[in-house]
Amino acid sequence: MDRLVISGGAPLRGKVGVSGAKNAALPLMAASILSLEPLVLENVPPLGDLGTMGKLLAHMGGSVRMSSGGDPGTPETAVLDMGNLDKPEAPHELVKTMRASALVLGPLLARVGRARVSLPGGCAIGVRPIDMHLKALKDMGAEFDLSGGDIVAKAPGGFLRGAKIRFDTVTVTGTEHIMMAAALARGTTVIRNAAREPEVSDTGRALVKMGARIEGLGTDEIVVEGVPSLSSATHAVMSDRIEAGTLIAAAAAAGGKITLTGAPLSAMEAVLGKFGEAGLVFEILANENGGREGKDLVVSSPGGRLLAADATTMPHPGFPTDMQAQFMAAMTLADGVSIITETIFENRFMHVAELRRLGADITLEGRSAVVKGAKKLSGAPLTASDLRASAGLLIAALAADGVSRLSRVYHLDRGYDRLDLKLNLLGADITREKE
Ligand code: EPZ
Repeated sequence: MDRLVISGGAPLRGKVGVSGAKNAALPLMAASILSLEPLVLENVPPLGDLGTMGKLLAHMGGSVRMSSGGDPGTPETAVLDMGNLDKPEAPHELVKTMRASALVLGPLLARVGRARVSLPGGCAIGVRPIDMHLKALKDMGAEFDLSGGDIVAKAPGGFLRGAKIRFDTVTVTGTEHIMMAAALARGTTVIRNAAREPEVSDTGRALVKMGARIEGLGTDEIVVEGVPSLSSATHAVMSDRIEAGTLIAAAAAAGGKITLTGAPLSAMEAVLGKFGEAGLVFEILANENGGREGKDLVVSSPGGRLLAADATTMPHPGFPTDMQAQFMAAMTLADGVSIITETIFENRFMHVAELRRLGADITLEGRSAVVKGAKKLSGAPLTASDLRASAGLLIAALAADGVSRLSRVYHLDRGYDRLDLKLNLLGADITREKE
């Protein structure tokens, strides 16, 4: 296993590109199952979870071709041809490492009328059931048995039916899952209380390019009119608002001035607003090769300490739960007290105990963390527990005096396109070594 050795204390300077979004690429890879013809995805980030999804598609009989990975931020192109799909199953050894594998269930039912998918386990941040996914698929006519930890599913007659679905609470992959299944269902599906995350809309836009009929993307009511089949398409994955937010949090904590190219600024209002409240200064510059939005974001720290700011995680367009740990890391050195409340997951404060080891002053009160800004943090050995906690710890270590060692870095590599290398391009001093 790898670990990162971080020598903190240096401000960040320079320019980096923002990679494609993991949480858009994952459902998009599952969407390839819906078509007999290849789906070409551009701007795919070379990271762990997508490799796992690629293995899963290949296991099903698909052909997955990824261009070779280049320097950090160099996009890859994936050609996903599921024409020869002959094994509609997702075995435990693949699903256990990546919960989002369960997203293949609906597309398999819609495409071939049957599937065997290992029921995803929980993870560090919570139980993370998929009960809402299964209930919605049942409403569409699917039948399930549980055998040996696997969901054995079938769609009577070989097809799913359009249905009126209402999610009790907002679910991001649940919305993506049902949107994909509904694309080939017979009849119209209405998804109420749908997630409005940009990655959901990106998945929907790709499905429309493949021939799906979808209205209401970005709203809480999505209507899908099923079609008999989908065809090939080429789609550039949207850039990663959480990677961009993570780099912003790093500049906030370490200080300095950085420029991000290709950040999806229109999807980042809550994050930019929150860091602005904390004193960061943003400047937006036109740049014809600045990604889909054609803009660069210049992030300058205020020079002195950040201002303490409160944050409560909410479904989009609220402050994203995937930015909670990174924001907390930045607030550990802010001037004042910040109250950070996690409303989406029941156990997403695993980073708190580790931040305390650096000297952070954080007390937990129910679903809130009360962060009293410290004058300084001091380097220490740290252990990562989950993807975004690892990012938070890395950010705090950048701001700490002295050396920190972050172990179990595989958590970070699942969801970031070589974040350590990108931070080094910005002047950080991070070395990767075998543990
Ligand atoms: C997606 O997970 C993201 N993952 C997560 O990002 C993100 O944190 C989360 O959305 C919230 O924004 C991907 O897109 C691959 P949910 P998802 O269904 O879809 C409960 C990262 O760091 N729930 O919106 O699994 C659930 O337990 C990852 O990149 C049910 O109870 O999240 C949670 O408490 C972490 N039953 C809440 O709803 C269900 O059937 C929101 O979960 C489904 C969800």
